[in-house]
Amino acid sequence: MQTVLIVGATGNIGASAIHAALRSNLHVLAIVRNQASAEKLFANVGTREDITTVEADITSDRGVKDVVEKVWKGELPAFQHVYAAAGGLFDTTSILDLTMEDVRKHMRVNFEPNLFAYQATIPYLLKQNDPTSTWTLCTGASGDNGGRAAASMTQGALYSLANVACLDNADTNVRFNEIYLGLFVIAGAAAEQFGAMEASEFAIVYEKILARPDIKGCRMMVCQREDLTDLRFSEKLE
Ligand SMILES: NC(=O)c1ccc[n+]([C@@H]2O[C@H](COP(=O)([O-])OP(=O)(O)OC[C@H]3O[C@@H](n4cnc5c(N)ncnc54)[C@H](OP(=O)(O)O)[C@@H]3O)[C@@H](O)[C@H]2O)c1
Repeated sequence: MQTVLIVGATGNIGASAIHAALRSNLHVLAIVRNQASAEKLFANVGTREDITTVEADITSDRGVKDVVEKVWKGELPAFQHVYAAAGGLFDTTSILDLTMEDVRKHMRVNFEPNLFAYQATIPYLLKQNDPTSTWTLCTGASGDNGGRAAASMTQGALYSLANVACLDNADTNVRFNEIYLGLFVIAGAAAEQFGAMEASEFAIVYEKILARPDIKGCRMMVCQREDLTDLRFSEKLE
């Protein structure tokens, strides 16, 4: 059985990645910041089966690296896929009032953990050389629509990370893709309360990426409900 390592696993998008992985008969290796977060994850997805959790600080450049070292030592399951959806910070401070502390805080939470996850896991996936490996990054449309200044700018940085990753992995065993999300997704019963899409419904997009070897180096647009059924994707760098 293959395994997906998930960074940001305890969040709304992380829950959708877990639903997709389990429905694709994959094991989940979920990075959590503590036991309380792990319990939130289990409540979000409604099961503990086929999910291994490991504690790490994803905001440190050592966090995911230490997890990968444990994988090398056989203390954690080997993984073939990575899904990154760390972040979720979107303060409303206007651009004119932003302090550098605000900007750095948003970069530290929304951008850096995804970059650290990439740097820690890509060398492992390349060395394993599994021809079915994938790496998936979830970004948000707020980077284009300009709302929420600090969060928007961190999304811009994530788009660029995805460009670099698509280019760097074009000729490797790793199928890198970006999911560009323009919908509001929430895990669990709160989705209905806020008129959002439930994480398990959004999960279909990742399921399809996992199942479709032809989707490589692409941005998958998910901005309306129809995008779940009629996939909208194109190569990021043509
Ligand atoms: N949900 C949406 O509708 C949506 C839409 C567009 C794009 N996105 C993209 O998806 C990303 C995640 O969104 P989300 O809704 O899943 O966010 P979320 O529910 O707030 O989850 C964020 C994840 O990051 C972790 N995290 C945040 N701050 C952390 C910190 N200081 N230290 C350690 N871990 C930390 C959280 O861990 P804890 O659980 O321990 O806090 C959680 O696993 C966003 O940044 C964005 O790029 C989401």
